[in-house]
Parts: sequence; C-alpha cells; structure tokens
Amino acid sequence: MLKLIVTIDGPAASGKSTVARLLADRLGVSFLDTGAMYRAATLAAMRARIDMTNESEFLRIIESSKFQFSTEKGKTLVRLDGDDVTDEIRRPDVTANARYAASAPKVRARLVEMQRQIAAEKEKIVTEGRDQGTVAFPDANVKFFLTADAKTRAGRRQAEMPDTDKRRDIGQVRRDIEARDKSDQDREIGPLRPADDAIVVDTTKLSIEEVVQRLLEYVEGKC
Ligand code: DC
Repeated sequence: MLKLIVTIDGPAASGKSTVARLLADRLGVSFLDTGAMYRAATLAAMRARIDMTNESEFLRIIESSKFQFSTEKGKTLVRLDGDDVTDEIRRPDVTANARYAASAPKVRARLVEMQRQIAAEKEKIVTEGRDQGTVAFPDANVKFFLTADAKTRAGRRQAEMPDTDKRRDIGQVRRDIEARDKSDQDREIGPLRPADDAIVVDTTKLSIEEVVQRLLEYVEGKC
C-alpha cells in the first residue's frame, strides 16, 4: 500500500529531474524518471528499425523488450535487453525521436501502466515527467509543476550534453526545446500542463538547492 506519492512535472530542462532525484534522496524515498522510460522505448524502436509512427509496431517492440530502471548515486541507470543504455538514451537523436512515443496514445497508456506498477511496488516515491500529476497519479499526495524560461532551460540542457555535443549552438538547443514544448503541450493524450491542484514553481532565478528546499518544505508541511 502506497503511503506517499509526490509528482513533479514540467517542460524539458526545467530542472525537474535533478530536483526530483535530490528530493527523493532527502525524503529517503524511491525515485522514478519517466522520461527515461520514453527514451528507452524510443531506443528499442530505433534498434529494431521500425516505423515509429506505427503505434502497433511500437507496442510490439515495447512488449518484446526488457527494460530495467534503477537509481544509483542519484543517476537513473537504464538497461535495455541487458545492455546498459544509460548514456545512449540521452543522445540527441533519441531525444528527437522520443516525440513519437510521447505522442502515441497506446504507447503512453502502456508506459503509464508500467509507471503505476513500479509505484505500486514502492511504499513512497517521487516521480517526474510530463503527466505524472494529471494522468499517471491523479491522487498523488503532493504535486509540483516546475517551469523556467526557455533561455535558462537551453543553457541547462547544453551544460548536461555529452562533450561532443557541447559546442552545439545555444540558439539551436533553444529552438529544439521550444519545439519540444510545443509538441508536449499540443498532444491530445497526456499533454504537458499543471494539474489543477499542482504547486507551480518558477525555477528561472532559483538554484537547484533553493528549489529542493522549497519543495521539501511543502512536502513536510503537507505530510
Ligand atoms: O524528460 P525527458 O527529456 O527525459 O523526456 C523525454 C521525452 O519523453 C520527451 O519527449 C517528453 C516525453 N515524456 C512524456 O511525454 N511524458 C512523460 N511522463 C515523460 C517524458
């Protein structure tokens, strides 16, 4: 029986992954990075060279793949059919192709089901993504929605890119982020939006530590 679910949703590079990880750590609870699930499913589809616009094919690949997610030293470790794909799922081509999984209703439904299964096995969990407070866990105890302006988010995304990609033009990084915002917000199923009962936090001018402290205070105040 779950005793605590905290959801953190928000656009790309709003700081939610880092904040969610740290918050889970401070609270001593489990952590789920649902973006890693979309990325891993995308990589599986890319490896199988399927047409990613074909939902049934996508689902078939998800069902026939073995995904393992774990957290170690604050990092989400991902295995696909036994291979460590932790770094590979962050590649720009995987990031770009993740929109196919994200916009396919049946793929979303299957991944939400997997997210609920993972959460059901934990007593307490912080889960982050785009639709955690709205679709996956509408009854969560505490819901957050983190935002930050596009310029700040582009800077953050660039800083976390592998060395070979670091020199990518910041303007292009920003345009990619804005395109992703649009496709995240415009999809019919699980669009990116704050839940009605979410606490919205603008992280543009806040350090990671300040955001974590703020969230920690809300959770401790509420529970
Ligand atoms: O948070 P991220 O950048 O790792 O997310 C990767 C992709 O997955 C991105 O296209 C948004 C999508 N996503 C989603 O649609 N729903 C979620 N709950 C998490 C991620």
